[in-house]
Parts: sequence; structure tokens; C-alpha cells
Amino acid sequence: MSVRTVPVSDLTAEQAAAELAALAAEIAEHDRHYHVEDAPVIADADYDALRQRNEAIEARFPHLARPDSPSKRVGATPSEKFSKVQHAVAMLSLGNAFGDEDVADFAKTVRRFLSLADDDPLTFTAEPKIDGLSISLRYEQRKLVMAATRGDGAEGENVTANVRTIKDVPEHVESADFPEVFEVRGEIYLSHADFANINEKQADAGAKTFANPRNAAAGSLRQLDSSITASRPLKFFAYGWGEVSRLPGETQWDILDAFRRWGFPVNDLTRVCENVDQLLAQYAEIELHRAGLGYDIDGVVYKVNRLDYQDRLGARSRTPRWAVAHKFAAEKATTVLEDIEIQVGRTGALTPVARLRPVTVGGVVVSNATLHNEDEIARKDVRVGDTVVIQRAGDVIPQVLASVPEMRPDNSTPFAFPELCPVCGSHAVREVNEKTGRVDAVRRCMGGLICPAQRVERLKHFVSRNAFDIEGLGDKVIEEFYTDGLIQSPQDVFSLQARDERSLKRLKDREGWGETSVRNLFAAIDERRMIPLDRFIFALGIRHVGETTARILARSYGSVEAVRSAMLDAAGDREGEALADLNNIDGIGTTVADAIVEFFGEPHNLSVVNELLEHLTVTPLEAVDTGSPVSGKTVVFTGSLERMSRDEAKAMAERLGAKVSGSVSKKTDLVVAGPKAGSKLTKANELGIEVIDEDGWFERVGMN
Ligand code: IVH
Repeated sequence: MSVRTVPVSDLTAEQAAAELAALAAEIAEHDRHYHVEDAPVIADADYDALRQRNEAIEARFPHLARPDSPSKRVGATPSEKFSKVQHAVAMLSLGNAFGDEDVADFAKTVRRFLSLADDDPLTFTAEPKIDGLSISLRYEQRKLVMAATRGDGAEGENVTANVRTIKDVPEHVESADFPEVFEVRGEIYLSHADFANINEKQADAGAKTFANPRNAAAGSLRQLDSSITASRPLKFFAYGWGEVSRLPGETQWDILDAFRRWGFPVNDLTRVCENVDQLLAQYAEIELHRAGLGYDIDGVVYKVNRLDYQDRLGARSRTPRWAVAHKFAAEKATTVLEDIEIQVGRTGALTPVARLRPVTVGGVVVSNATLHNEDEIARKDVRVGDTVVIQRAGDVIPQVLASVPEMRPDNSTPFAFPELCPVCGSHAVREVNEKTGRVDAVRRCMGGLICPAQRVERLKHFVSRNAFDIEGLGDKVIEEFYTDGLIQSPQDVFSLQARDERSLKRLKDREGWGETSVRNLFAAIDERRMIPLDRFIFALGIRHVGETTARILARSYGSVEAVRSAMLDAAGDREGEALADLNNIDGIGTTVADAIVEFFGEPHNLSVVNELLEHLTVTPLEAVDTGSPVSGKTVVFTGSLERMSRDEAKAMAERLGAKVSGSVSKKTDLVVAGPKAGSKLTKANELGIEVIDEDGWFERVGMN
């Protein structure tokens, strides 16, 4: 450490050059200890001091900066991570439309939801869908105070320091009409030219190049060293907002106008459209410009223009009802199908996967594609050895479209779909749907939990992002831990640390692991010992129970104990009240109800739930709006409603924290009855339940 004691300001050029060389080697070595061996040999603070010294010397002697300098290394993963930011308003994603009919359906659904007649005016905006990463920029008193990535929509990463280096993002907004609090949302992206430039520089420096502009933009934004971000010409388009103290207008278009006035870039290809034909015309117009734009776009986004309509439409679990992304047609390529492999999923579904000779489609190398199911393979007569056409649409998994018969090898035979599970050997059958009488398209392994594939997939689902979200337990780790007997059932996740402490073969001594990674894993597991009820239900992996259904159940039953006892009652008595109650919950159909009851009726599942609960605190779902007088109440809508559609009524009630039920029972708190209400109204009167009309409802919820 001898030279290091010399202040940077006193170093000679010769000393500086020698020290930069030593620092480059030393920091690279520490990076290897940390990332590859997971066993750092110095404290984080000492490591940071080395990097800071390196940067200080480079700042004084810029011409001596080495090509292998730690400050230039891309993805030199930081010693600290970005802090997490809770979004005040969730950052949603968009539903997709792939063809003209989907667009017409979108408009129709919006009209139906809002109870608009065909000739009532309904305008939309149409704008390019930028292929970058979304960002939320929070301004307070006209100053940028926080920039956060989308993350999982609820929580993103604090990248403020890096975003401050982006020229398109104003640091201050001058306009006097800029509200006190305003979160501007939009897309960060790179132009094709800047992307090519960055890759050229990366290649010159012997560093890794990026696959596409989106990845390069993401890599540039997620640098711990803001000076790297500053050297990448990231750009920004504003198209939305999060938490705001006031909105500067009444339509989407008004807000975009305000963005322009305030100094935020807004895409010039944005238009207001009066009907579906105009939307499609603008789509064609934007597609025409696509190649010449100089940056990637992957479709056109349509948004309902009136903000009061947007509010009424609200959102499904992850996507707004008032907007849709109309994607550009997928890119295609031809390659050879080398094999068809059968994967077994969480619910036992056998899915054929095409193993392909690697081929580039739309800038990405593809070597796998889905073949959907047995009937698809037969219908398209796709055979191993065939030359096939594949397509990739956005982030959707590539698909095999067809095979090219002229190029088929002479000895080829049709693909024989297995009738036994390739993993556990159990029978794999195609069930008959009781209601439709039709044979299911999917062949399923009947092995249940004796099938290792199903168990592993259930575990992967259990720890996945929208379920328990345990960092460090990715698919590969789960597979490994399952094979080695470390985690075979969900509850094993939470006893892992205790078992490891008693074990002779410690996790930290496993290949690919070390003290730090094991410590991080245990910390990540501990963080999830407390979990919201809806995530808990979703994590169980009950067939047909996705996030939305899990949320409905969580809201209806309130606590995990209530769910468990109701489902046990329902499983024990198929004629009883518990099952009737479950069926009465709005949004729960009989298929879903049957699947839930079947799950809890299986002793093995019940013991998994019970054991999990010994390790966990499951918190009730926070009421959406506890301030509302209908929050927590069970409401039934009946008769014909005139001011809103049934869907809108339901969405509004749920937004206000109410549960909506399809039938009247002792548990009903309030019945909203329109004209022509029949038996439900009679029953409500018999049971002495409060009945109000539609106007009464609006008055009750304070929207008159
Ligand atoms: S609006 C609530 N507008 O596409 C609606 N999104 O697939 C939020 N995106 O996460 C999105 N261009 O990152 C909107 N003009 C545009 C967009 C756009 C690109 C991205 C955005 C979003 C993703 C959804």
C-alpha cells in the first residue's frame, strides 16, 4: 500500500500510471473473489476505497486511464445494489392486440364497460410503443427528486443519479403551472446510431457487446457508476404519469401537450383518433415510418383520451382497461427442427418444445420454440428433421408456424406423442371436459406429486416473482436443491437455514456457492416469512388460481385461517354452505371453485399449508380504500343498472374495498337494486338486508 498513502494531488504521472496498472489488476482480482468465488477477501468499504482511488487518479490524469480500467468495465457488478423504491401508483403493463379485430374488440369492450351507445363520441390517442425501459420521474417543487425503474410494478430501483445524466430529462421545470408533486412516466431508449457506437467502443475495449438497443439502454441505466451512464446518450419520451397533486387537463392529449410545454420530449407521431378506422390508419402510418425512425418501436399504443373515462375503466391486475398495445407483426425465419422434447409443467401438462438449429430472428438468437400441444403437431405435421418456419413477436416465446414439406428428409416419420410421462412414467391422459364433453387439448401426467417434474415446477412457481419472490432461488438452484434433497416441498424453503446449520455438508461449501451468497439467500428467505394473503394463495399453485383469483379469495375471506377452514368445510361437504359461499363470490366460477376445493381436500396439500403456516405470518390483504363507507362490505348488484354497466359497478365496488357477490345471503351487507330486480330483491327484503337504488349507491360512495 506504499504509493497509496501519497495524496492523488501529489502523484507524478509515472507513479499514477504504475498505480493505475496495480489497481486494475487488484480490483479485477477482488471482483473475481466476490462474483465468481462468492468469497470476498476484503471488506466492502475497502473495495470501494480502491475504486474511488482509481477514479480520482483517472480524473487527474485522464490520458492515463487504461482500457482495462475498472471504471470502464461494463457489468462490473457493483459492491452495493440500488435501493428499492415503492411506487406511489403502480406501474402497469399493457394488454396486447395482434390484429385489427383485437383493436375493434378493445373499443367495443371500452364502450360496453362505460355503457356508451355506438354513436356516443369516444376518442383515443395513438402513439408509438417505444422499445426501451419504463421509468418514473418524481418532481417535487419542480425539481427532480427521484427516478425509479418499473421493477415488478409495485417496487422499482432508485436510479436517480444515473437519470440525472440524461439530457432529455429536465432537472428543473420552469413553468409556473407545474404541479407541486408530479411523477412523469415514460420510456428510456437508445437510438440505433448510438447503440452501434456503444457496441463499437465495447468491442474495441474488449468488453461484451449488447444484443439490442433495449439491452444496451438497460445496461447503461443500471450502472452504479453514473459517469458510465453519462457517456451513453440515453433518450427519453414522456407518455404517462404516476402520483400527481393536480392534472393539467382533462384528456390524455391535454397532458401530453402540457408535457411538451414543460420541456419533456413527447413523440411526434402521436395523434387523436375518433374511431377504430382512424386508429388503424395511424397504425399503418406509424408502421410506414418505423424503419426510418432511428430507434426501435414494437407497436402502437391506443389510449382512451378522456381521463374521467380512464378513471372509470381502471385496471385489471396488471393492465389498464383504457389502453392496449397493438403489436407489429412478428418477424419470421427458417431453420431445422433438431428434436422435439416434452416438458412436464406444474399441473402435469406435457408441452412439446422444439429444439432448433440456432437462428437469428429480429436480432435475437433463437434455439427453442413452443409447439403448443399434440394436436398442433399433428395438424401441422411437424417432424424431427424438418425445415420449419418460426416467428417471434415481441417478448413472446417463439413459435413454430409450419414445416416446409419440400425440404423434408426421405426417412422422416410423424411425431409420436408419448402416452406416458417422460419424467415419472405415469400415464399421461387427455381428460374430457365434463361441461363441454370435449377432449382436452393438453395431455397431463397423472402422477401428481409423485412426479418429480410437477414437484419441481410447483417449487419454481412457489418462489417465483409474483409469488414468494425469493431472490437467489432461481430455476436452476431449485432443480439442484430438489435433486440433492435440500428442498423437496415448499415448507423446506423455510427450514433450509436451520437444517444447514446442523448439516455436515454446508451450503457454503457447495460448488458455485460461498459465505456471501448463502448469507444473501437466507436473508432473502427471512424477508418473506411475512407475506400478504393473496401472494400466499397464488404461491400454492392451485390449478386455475392466478393472481386475480388469489386476490378475490384473499379479499373475500380476509385471513388465511378463514380460507383454510372454509375450504376444509367445502371439501368435506359438497352440499354445504361453505361451497355455496365460494361459488357465490363474483369472479369465481365452478371450475375454479372445484379446483380450490379439490386442492384442500388432498391431505398432502393440507399438510403443506399447515407446515408452511408454522414458518410464516400471512397478513390480510389491505383494504383498497378503508375510508369508503362500503369498504369491507359484501355488496350484491341486481336488476338493470342505468348509469354504469355491471362490470363497471363491480370494478368500482372492488376499488372501494367492497366484496361483490352474485347472490344474496345472510352475509350480504348491501343490495343495489335497479328496475326489474327479481328474486334477489325479494330475498334481501326477507332477510332484512339494506336495499338502495343506483342513485343511492353513487350517493353512498360520494360520487354524486
Ligand atoms: S403506457 C398504464 N405508452 O410498454 C399504461 N407504454 O408493454 C402504461 N411503452 O411498461 C404504459 N411505449 O414500458 C405506454 N407510448 C407508450 C409506451 C409504453 C412503450 C412500454 C412501457 C410499458 C410497456 C408495456
